[in-house]
Amino acid sequence: MNKFGMFIHWGIYAATGQHEQALARYDMPFDEYDSLVESFNPTDYNPEEWVLLAKNAGMKYICFTTKHHDGFCMWDTKHTDYNVMNTPYGKDVLKMLADACQKHGMLLSLYYSNPDWHHENGYNMRSTHQWKSRYPEFGDTEKYREYVKKQLQELLTGYGKIYTLFWDIPPQIEDPSLNAYVRSLQPDILINDRGWDKGDFSTPEREVPDGERFSRMTEACQSVGEQAWGYREDEDYFSVRFLTSSIDKIMAMGGSYLLNVGPMPNGKIPEKAKNILERVGDWYTRMGGTLEDHDAAPYPFRARGGIPFIATQKNGKTYIHLYNGAPSSAFSFEVAPAFLPKSARLVNDGRTLRVRYGLLPGWGGAQGLANGPYLSIADIPCDEFENEPLVIELEW
Ligand code: GLC
Repeated sequence: MNKFGMFIHWGIYAATGQHEQALARYDMPFDEYDSLVESFNPTDYNPEEWVLLAKNAGMKYICFTTKHHDGFCMWDTKHTDYNVMNTPYGKDVLKMLADACQKHGMLLSLYYSNPDWHHENGYNMRSTHQWKSRYPEFGDTEKYREYVKKQLQELLTGYGKIYTLFWDIPPQIEDPSLNAYVRSLQPDILINDRGWDKGDFSTPEREVPDGERFSRMTEACQSVGEQAWGYREDEDYFSVRFLTSSIDKIMAMGGSYLLNVGPMPNGKIPEKAKNILERVGDWYTRMGGTLEDHDAAPYPFRARGGIPFIATQKNGKTYIHLYNGAPSSAFSFEVAPAFLPKSARLVNDGRTLRVRYGLLPGWGGAQGLANGPYLSIADIPCDEFENEPLVIELEW
């Protein structure tokens, strides 16, 4: 699976300036919410800008919210009037995005919410996120599944090749016929685990604890904003440091990463979000592919001092991911292979680091003698890269 993608949460909810679930979170009356349909007119929408922003950040795919929990559809669907064609804008924004992706070699993935607060059969008492259904007492999920299939037919045949399908909110009903149908329309598609069966890949969200290398294909997701996935006017943005650490960790564990932005009602990505993406992208680009297509390191490395790191291996070289940075200018191994690396390099800027092998007096051993000898990598510029994790390449 490709490692880095852009998640985009965009719908009429952007105009609330609050949250993609504003209808529920702020308990908005349906009439008030639906009036957003009459004003949705993103005259500054230029999906090429989104695609180029993603591309310049080193991202390979874009995952777009075709329908969120509100049930509003961002494409020209024939199966409900509650869609973007019936706004003053009146254009198929998904088609425009698909064309821009095609033009710039960007893969397109589709997000589709199972909860649907608008559809008369959308209510599913077994699942979560059912807070605002217009028809809470109905909910024939069989009929709803027929609707979903008809919509998938449009989404998976009208917009070119679709890279992944991101179902949201597991319906807690097992029905493999849905993914089977998806695969019949898009044989190469990868499907996540929030749908009607386990799918192909897992989707941990927001905080992902430190751990072992993922045993299953995994795509973590996180937004640049702490509060919402959709546009929020008063958003609290994450630091570049926080995001790059998170990305480095997840990718070193073998996962992929979807980094989300919520475009404004006019179609533009907020300046702050754009700026974060550019800076994260600058770091990611300097990593030069070391975060992609690697294996776990073949040696049982262990660091002195409990410094968190993950070791990976690619093309015979080892990469030490100090995802929380380096607390000092040396990184010492407690357990390392019996032979020494030929050289060490800081991937962040390509500079050579010093490979040192010797006694370290900081850890007194028997009779107070200096312990060791230890392998350590010295001359790490631990103060120079405040906004990003450090990655050390070892050549053997
Ligand atoms: C959660 C939220 C939803 C968001 C999604 C992104 O499921 O309910 O608003 O779209 O996470 O992964």
